[in-house]
Amino acid sequence: MGDPPLEMAIHCRGLVKSFGRGDARVPALRGLDLDIAYGEMVMLVGPSGCGKTTLISVIAAVLDQDAGLCRVLGRDLARLTQADKTLLRRKAVGFVFQAFNLIPTLTLADNVTVPLLLNGSPRETGRKQAVEMLDRLGLGGRANALPSELSGGQQQRVAIARALVHKPSLVVCDEPTSALDAKTGETMLHLLREIALQERRTLVIVTHDNRILKYADRVIEMSDGVITRSGAGPSLGPPASTDIRSSLS
Ligand SMILES: Nc1ncnc2c1ncn2[C@@H]1O[C@H](COP(=O)(O)OP(=O)(O)O)[C@@H](O)[C@H]1O
Ligand SMILES: [Mg+2]
Repeated sequence: MGDPPLEMAIHCRGLVKSFGRGDARVPALRGLDLDIAYGEMVMLVGPSGCGKTTLISVIAAVLDQDAGLCRVLGRDLARLTQADKTLLRRKAVGFVFQAFNLIPTLTLADNVTVPLLLNGSPRETGRKQAVEMLDRLGLGGRANALPSELSGGQQQRVAIARALVHKPSLVVCDEPTSALDAKTGETMLHLLREIALQERRTLVIVTHDNRILKYADRVIEMSDGVITRSGAGPSLGPPASTDIRSSLS
């Protein structure tokens, strides 16, 4: 009963992922170990090319790992079929990207309804939930607008609504504030934290934006395909407390 890693939302050991073959092979994850608890909001930082996007893509069951263990929400990803992974993504994962990736020809409400339709909700129920979620993000009056009629900050709020509307257990965000000005970015993080953590969602946010680190329960630093440090708050702790294993409880 007492195996703590099984209680983790995310539990990776020796995770390996490369791109390409032969001479063109590029290692992106090189035997990475990581644990993230249920309900934790974690920021993932590190230099460009160190493997952050690859890591959250594997965790979100978008990319298949080459080797190692990756257990997400109690499922060992290596044991899932592609159909299982598609279901896991649709039901349990919400995504927010740097480029908001809204569908330009759909209204805001229809954009936010998409994840619900994919999960089999009837259109009317889906639309109602979508409008409620837009409302929580301060966009209730704009449900019938098109994305092009909104500012970048508003579009990113729609993207958050879309990521959360189906109540996923895990939310992954790849540089969600990098196309926004500082203040808009902070507002966004504030909303994301409030809405997501109310329901004990687990959040993994890749960022270069130092101003938003304060919203994290924990900051995890990556370098060259592995985790190098993990500590609380915006200023990472001293080396003694930053061994990833010391954060296991
Ligand atoms: N689809 C891909 N094909 C080939 N190489 C890739 C691909 N995606 C990422 N890489 C390589 O894997 C490494 C890690 O990339 P990435 O995970 O995107 O890093 P980060 O998000 O930290 O900038 C980099 O060397 C990158 O060039
Ligand atoms: Mg990236």
